Parts: sequence; C-alpha cells; structure tokens
Amino acid sequence: MVSDKILEHLRQPHNMEKMKDPDGVGVVRETICEDELKAYIKVRDGRVVDASFEGFACAAALVTSSVATDLVKGRTPEEVLALTTDDVIKELGSLPETKSECIHLGAEAVRRAARDYLEKHPG
Ligand code: FES
Repeated sequence: MVSDKILEHLRQPHNMEKMKDPDGVGVVRETICEDELKAYIKVRDGRVVDASFEGFACAAALVTSSVATDLVKGRTPEEVLALTTDDVIKELGSLPETKSECIHLGAEAVRRAARDYLEKHPG
C-alpha cells in the first residue's frame, strides 16, 4: 500500500531542479544501476535556506530525494550531516519494500552537499 504522501512526492517531486550558484553540491551514484543524483544547498546565516536535486533515477530514489531536500531546509549544515534515510522514511510515514540501495540516495546526496559546503567554509 502506497501512502498519499508517497504519491504526492511521486507525482510531483519537490525541489527537482538544478540550482544556480549553490553553496554545496553532493553527487551520489547507485552502485548497481549507476543512476546518478546531484543535490544542491544554499546556506545563509548558517542555515540551509534552499535545497534541490536533479538526476535520472528510479521512483524510490526520486521520492526520497524530494523528501530529503524538504527536510534540510532550516537546518544547519552540521545538522544535515546527521540526516538519515530513517528520518526520510519517518517523514513519509512508511515506504513499501523496495530496492534498498535506492532509498538511501536522497539522504546521502544532501549529506554530501552539506559536507561540500563545510569543506569550502571551514570554521
Ligand atoms: S534503480 Fe537506479 S536509483 Fe533506483
């Protein structure tokens, strides 16, 4: 059974666009299918004010990326580093049994974007 929230993100993924002049970029590639996703964050006054993603991937990866880029807004880059796939699934309510690797791409991409930002802005 697919929840209404999953259907919402599936029909119209949030934040699915290339970002102009991002402050942090995270790239992930699924090891088996080699689909690639890129996440972007914009940071102002120490908090993520915008996040988006782009790429070609399966529905599970797109839905979790849609949610992950929603969840990071308002967080500090350090807090984004702690975002997990479980946080994403909790936000969705549940996720049907699926290819397990794909559902991790969204959280991993935003964590890499936060890491990229922190490496460019140490201290
Ligand atoms: S099958 Fe490629 S990301 Fe899911």
